[in-house]
Amino acid sequence: MATTLTTRKLTEGVGAELVDVDIDRLRNDEELPEAFMSALEEFGVLLLRGLPIDDEVQVEFIRKMGDIVQFPNYPNPDVMEISFDPSNPNVRYFSSNDHWHFDGSMDETPAKAVALTAHVLASDGGETEFSSSYAAYDLLTDEEKEKFAKLRVLHKFEAIQRRSYSDPTPEQLEDWATWPEREHPLVWEHRSGRRSLVIGHSASHIVGMDFDEGRALLADLEKRATSPDRVLRHDWQVGDMVIWDNLGLLHRACPFNRTEPRRMHRTTLAGTEPIT
Ligand code: OGA
Ligand code: MN
Repeated sequence: MATTLTTRKLTEGVGAELVDVDIDRLRNDEELPEAFMSALEEFGVLLLRGLPIDDEVQVEFIRKMGDIVQFPNYPNPDVMEISFDPSNPNVRYFSSNDHWHFDGSMDETPAKAVALTAHVLASDGGETEFSSSYAAYDLLTDEEKEKFAKLRVLHKFEAIQRRSYSDPTPEQLEDWATWPEREHPLVWEHRSGRRSLVIGHSASHIVGMDFDEGRALLADLEKRATSPDRVLRHDWQVGDMVIWDNLGLLHRACPFNRTEPRRMHRTTLAGTEPIT
């Protein structure tokens, strides 16, 4: 018999808690990965509450669904630690997680899904918010849909980092310039037939449009996509695992006191569909 999942919606538009998945099912239910991926397609964000899941279980489960993106500068390259600990190899870049984005937005084939588990939490704040970029497309007017079908957007690392560091040092500019930039269509027509907006913190400007006009359009689209009634805010408990469909969701971290040791463990499922 096919496995079943009991879901509880977290908001009207985005997210569901899986109420009957435990560590044993994560490890041993061989039909779970397929059911899980189809629930992810339907709900955009899936929550497993308070299990808790260690790195081994997390990685083993995600690997059942495909390849894992490697982060070779971490002790376990399957697991990127998200924290502001000064010894974290990516610490200087994590401020930008505060701005709406999807992961791997400068890759031709971005990550399909991302799993994040909470290991240490700040005393206040540090929630993670999610909003659907499929819905962002769907809410456009017909006129906008037609007009935007032809537009292309340049995504670059500098655009991400400038949101956090508006007055960069020459060293920062030199570092940011070493990251490859990428042009994407504004509207991604997925193999599934769904369409989403390819926006977020890396979107620098619209190709061939006046720079400021393009940026104003991108800002407006982001604002409409992430209006509070469309947002799932996840208030973490240690041991939670959240997985999001990185192809059709934007996410961001909410502010917290960065001198407190908030630490999340992230495992990233590689994508198989280029943005076209
Ligand atoms: C990430 C990310 C948000 C958070 O890990 O890619 O954006 O709340 N994290 O830590
Ligand atoms: Mn992210």
